[in-house]
Amino acid sequence: MDYHIADPGLAEEGRMRIEWAERDMPVLRLIRERFSREKPLQGMRVGACLHVTTETANLMITLKAGGAEVALCASNPLSTQDDVAASLVRHHGVPVFAIRGEDKETYYSHINAVLDTRPHVTMDDGADLISTLHAERKEQAKEVWAGAEETTTGVIRLRAMAEAGVLLYPVIAVNNALTKHLFDNRFGTGQSTLDGILRATNVLLAGRRVAVFGFGMCGRGVASRARGLGALVTVVETDPLRALEAVMEGFQVTTSLEAAASCDLFITVTGDIHVLRKEHFQVMRDGAILANSGHFNVEIDIPALEEMSRSRRRVRDNVEEFLLPDGRRIYLLAEGRLVNLAAAEGHPASVMDMSFANQALCVEYVKGAHATLDRVVYDVPEELDREIARLKLASMGIRIDSLTPEQEEYLSSWEMGT
Ligand code: ADE
Repeated sequence: MDYHIADPGLAEEGRMRIEWAERDMPVLRLIRERFSREKPLQGMRVGACLHVTTETANLMITLKAGGAEVALCASNPLSTQDDVAASLVRHHGVPVFAIRGEDKETYYSHINAVLDTRPHVTMDDGADLISTLHAERKEQAKEVWAGAEETTTGVIRLRAMAEAGVLLYPVIAVNNALTKHLFDNRFGTGQSTLDGILRATNVLLAGRRVAVFGFGMCGRGVASRARGLGALVTVVETDPLRALEAVMEGFQVTTSLEAAASCDLFITVTGDIHVLRKEHFQVMRDGAILANSGHFNVEIDIPALEEMSRSRRRVRDNVEEFLLPDGRRIYLLAEGRLVNLAAAEGHPASVMDMSFANQALCVEYVKGAHATLDRVVYDVPEELDREIARLKLASMGIRIDSLTPEQEEYLSSWEMGT
């Protein structure tokens, strides 16, 4: 088996951590048990480009249990957990191409190694696998039945491709499932972003002025968790509806420049480029900390910060100090990459359980439906989403009511009034 990982000797450590995550992934476990019995993915090849974490390992093991052949590379050069990669190779026979801290060239060589396995399904977190296939290996697209995309940024890229008429096969927007983005994006990003910032810096959040840039599902998770730890949270948002929601949620809402001058910790979660740039660095206070939790490392204009600075040095794991000519110091976490995955372990298993249950069921769905799908971006079928919510509630021991026949009828009629 071909693979490229940092250190096979880390496999035992990885195995134990994968098992630890599995304890909190009951929905995926149920799917795995059924897949083991029914083998619905027999004969399928899945190429995955995801963060190589304990939770992703459980997804790979589930797909294999269903009969699929899988190959995995990283969706970010800094998020790979090398022990997990080692265990997947050694204990589970999954070809992994991922090394934490890999350079750009290696990152793309790993993507190409996964494409070399000629997948029927491409599974992405940020669309790098599918983009590489479209840019460099177009001829391979006819072999691919469908793609699956895990994150908002990837879905935006893919919708743009579909609208431009250049998308060569159907894609399922796993991100858009309710059991994915309402939980993973909000509670997962909320908690894991703060986890990354705290592991990197050990700063006290109580009383700290924190600016959150972006009030989508991820931003609102980060803002509410920061508030929960006692931070004074300011939200910066360009969409008037979202800004209004943030105001009515009780957050301070202001412009990026005002936030830059008055806050101490800055967290970008917009999915857009250069959200924090020269004009902001110019007015920041001494000791300002910058973190990004958006998919790509473009939200903070690091080249501009570097250019303005007299020096740049590493002061702790995942913390770099930029010294400005007037003596102010600005601290950048995790090279501006996803702080929750680079400085912590990503979202906890309990939310990834639902996200990856969606991925597993979508692969099964694609097996049956791909001949009927067009070259567009599809949402996850609603019945899969609801089934995952039902299973998650059941796994938590939570029972809910059903509507009575009278209530069903009332909701579907228009004649009944006062
Ligand atoms: N994205 C965010 N957190 C993650 C995790 N724990 N595993 C895989 N992908 C993730």
